[in-house]
Amino acid sequence: MVVYKILILFLLLLLFSNSISQSTAQPNADDQKLLLTIKKDWDNPAALSPWSSTGNWTGVIYDNITGQVTGLSFPSLHIAKPIPAFICSLKNLTSIDLSYNNLTGGFPTVLYACSALQFLDLSNNQFTGFLPFDIYMLSLVMQHLNLSSNAFIGDVPFAFGYFSKLKSLVLDTNSFNGSYPGAAIGGLVELETLTLASNPFKPGPVPKQFGKLTKLKMLWLSWMNLTGTIPNDLLSLTELTLLDLSLNNMEGTIPEWTFKLQKLEKLYLYSNMFIGEIGPDITALNLQELDLSMNKLTGSIPEYIASLKNLTLLYLYYNNLTGEIPTGVGKLPKLIDIRLYNNKLSGPLPPELGKYSELGTLEVSNNNLSGELPDTLCFNKQLYDIVVFNNSFSGVFPASLGECDTINNVMAYNNHFMGDFPEKIWSFEMLTNVMINDNNFTGTLPSEISFNFTGTLPRFSGAIPSSAIALKNFEAENNQFSGSLPDDMSKLANLTELNLAGNQLSGSIP
Ligand SMILES: *[C@@H]1O[C@H](CO)[C@@H](O)[C@H](O)[C@H]1NC(C)=O
Ligand SMILES: *[C@@H]1O[C@H](CO)[C@@H](O)[C@H](O)[C@H]1NC(C)=O
Ligand SMILES: *[C@@H]1O[C@H](CO)[C@@H](O)[C@H](O)[C@H]1NC(C)=O
Ligand SMILES: *[C@@H]1O[C@H](CO)[C@@H](O)[C@H](O)[C@H]1NC(C)=O
Ligand SMILES: *[C@@H]1O[C@H](CO)[C@@H](O)[C@H](O)[C@H]1NC(C)=O
Ligand SMILES: *[C@@H]1O[C@H](CO)[C@@H](O)[C@H](O)[C@H]1NC(C)=O
Ligand SMILES: *[C@@H]1O[C@H](CO)[C@@H](O)[C@H](O)[C@H]1NC(C)=O
Ligand SMILES: *[C@@H]1O[C@H](CO)[C@@H](O)[C@H](O)[C@H]1NC(C)=O
Ligand SMILES: *[C@@H]1O[C@H](CO)[C@@H](O)[C@H](O)[C@H]1NC(C)=O
Ligand SMILES: *[C@@H]1O[C@H](CO)[C@@H](O)[C@H](O)[C@H]1NC(C)=O
Ligand SMILES: *[C@@H]1O[C@H](CO)[C@@H](O)[C@H](O)[C@H]1NC(C)=O
Ligand SMILES: *[C@@H]1O[C@H](CO)[C@@H](O)[C@H](O)[C@H]1NC(C)=O
Repeated sequence: MVVYKILILFLLLLLFSNSISQSTAQPNADDQKLLLTIKKDWDNPAALSPWSSTGNWTGVIYDNITGQVTGLSFPSLHIAKPIPAFICSLKNLTSIDLSYNNLTGGFPTVLYACSALQFLDLSNNQFTGFLPFDIYMLSLVMQHLNLSSNAFIGDVPFAFGYFSKLKSLVLDTNSFNGSYPGAAIGGLVELETLTLASNPFKPGPVPKQFGKLTKLKMLWLSWMNLTGTIPNDLLSLTELTLLDLSLNNMEGTIPEWTFKLQKLEKLYLYSNMFIGEIGPDITALNLQELDLSMNKLTGSIPEYIASLKNLTLLYLYYNNLTGEIPTGVGKLPKLIDIRLYNNKLSGPLPPELGKYSELGTLEVSNNNLSGELPDTLCFNKQLYDIVVFNNSFSGVFPASLGECDTINNVMAYNNHFMGDFPEKIWSFEMLTNVMINDNNFTGTLPSEISFNFTGTLPRFSGAIPSSAIALKNFEAENNQFSGSLPDDMSKLANLTELNLAGNQLSGSIP
């Protein structure tokens, strides 16, 4: 009997909820009225013009059983009028996205009345001024708060510490020039995303209390005047996928645990004053991007780099690294961008570099590298940037680069290259810069150069090109050109600089 009653009840419920959902796939009447008032108050943004009682409430999220509006998603509508106070009369509002609008003035305290709010995105507007000290008056069930890319100044108020349910606190790219409550933020143990980057904060260290944020996935603290060392307290942040402390004044060594964070995908520590060696153990196998450039790192590039099978980007430029580039780097299957310039690296490039990945950028200038360029650099036909100047590379320029028509920039000057420079390179449409002087290249100049050439030429012999429509700058002094100047210099009409001193040209100037 009891079972029977429950079954009836269940069937009734099913019927009831069905009919309701069919009749109200619309915001309820009260909320519709409010929505239309908000729209009017904002001078009827064009994107909201389809709003009507017959159906399309674009940007409005509502419960399709009760018709209660739960969310407003209005990014990029050019809204410039203030947020109206009665927006919070939508009693069930849990999320508001007003990103990429043109809202101005101070923080909109009218939102304090939206007591169910969990998601607030006011990023990318033109808000200014101090954040109110009583910002805790916002809903305390707030989970995602994004004020990024505005012009807020002063301190980040202590009150943020009250939002105990917060999962994202996104405050980067403002003009905060005071301090932020490190200890209070460290108490927000539910945080998964924390960004304070790109603010002119008063100089200070990374708060040790951030080590309590063990659910953090993203910690973006770039360009915010950080000083001191990386606190070891952060070693508990094992969920991190992004750790960005770049563009600060941090010092000391990079702790070994940094290279052992199992979930880490992006590690940006560039432009600080870090000293010491990299690794040497790197067991953060999920690393995709590793940028330690512009520090004072010494020692060699650890062999462990070769185990980072997901690595696409490796920037170690402007350090004092010595030793050879591990050969395993040449086998990394996803490497597309490698920049190791301005170090003291020696030895050859990894022999198979470019063979196993879609290598696009190779920049290793200003080192003591030697040997020949690998024939495989453009194996996967993606290479566009070869910057190898000021090294001791020798041998011929790989003939395979003559088939690499993605090339845009070749800077190979001041090495010991010899033999013919692959002539086909001159005809590549993408090519804009070739600087290959101070080598022992031989060969003839092409008779036509049709790209925006701005570089310097090698020790070529042969005639001066007779046609070079786009040629603007032709510097070939101290070479061994022979032959005469082209008769018809009008084809070089755009030439503004011509320097041929120190060559062996004959004939007269036309
Ligand atoms: C509602 O209107 C918007 C804006 O005009 C449009 O992009 C969207 O496709 C419409 N949606 C429906 C379900 O008609
Ligand atoms: C109502 O919402 C539920 C869950 O969000 C969804 O699965 C369903 O398709 C919606 N029904 C209507 C009529 O929109
Ligand atoms: C909507 O808000 C009212 C009043 O605050 C509340 O009683 C109700 O449970 C809420 N409904 C939903 C679906 O959140
Ligand atoms: C309005 O905001 C958009 C997106 O943030 C921005 O591109 C645009 O320049 C702003 N317009 C004015 C007049 O400020
Ligand atoms: C603002 O931050 C929230 C929470 O992390 C995120 O969901 C949202 O996409 C961000 N807004 C923009 C415009 O990136
Ligand atoms: C922060 O910037 C504002 C506006 O530029 C300025 O008035 C204020 O003095 C600055 N505060 C500090 C502590 O530098
Ligand atoms: C660092 O702090 C100084 C002094 O408060 C300030 O002038 C400067 O803009 C800040 N720099 C950065 C990168 O935030
Ligand atoms: C590398 O990336 C792939 C796919 O993007 C992913 O499945 C894998 O877990 C990542 N990590 C390692 C260590 O390969
Ligand atoms: C590298 O070391 C030399 C001397 O050993 C020093 O003068 C130079 O500043 C260092 N460069 C960097 C980027 O640390
Ligand atoms: C060019 O070759 C000559 C003779 O072999 C050698 O003396 C000179 O050092 C070489 N120059 C360069 C830049 O390699
Ligand atoms: C040459 O330069 C001009 C202007 O600097 C540019 O518009 C044009 O696209 C360039 N041509 C090539 C082939 O890069
Ligand atoms: C000079 O360059 C312009 C474009 O940069 C091009 O349109 C013009 O044809 C060139 N002149 C000659 C004579 O080649």
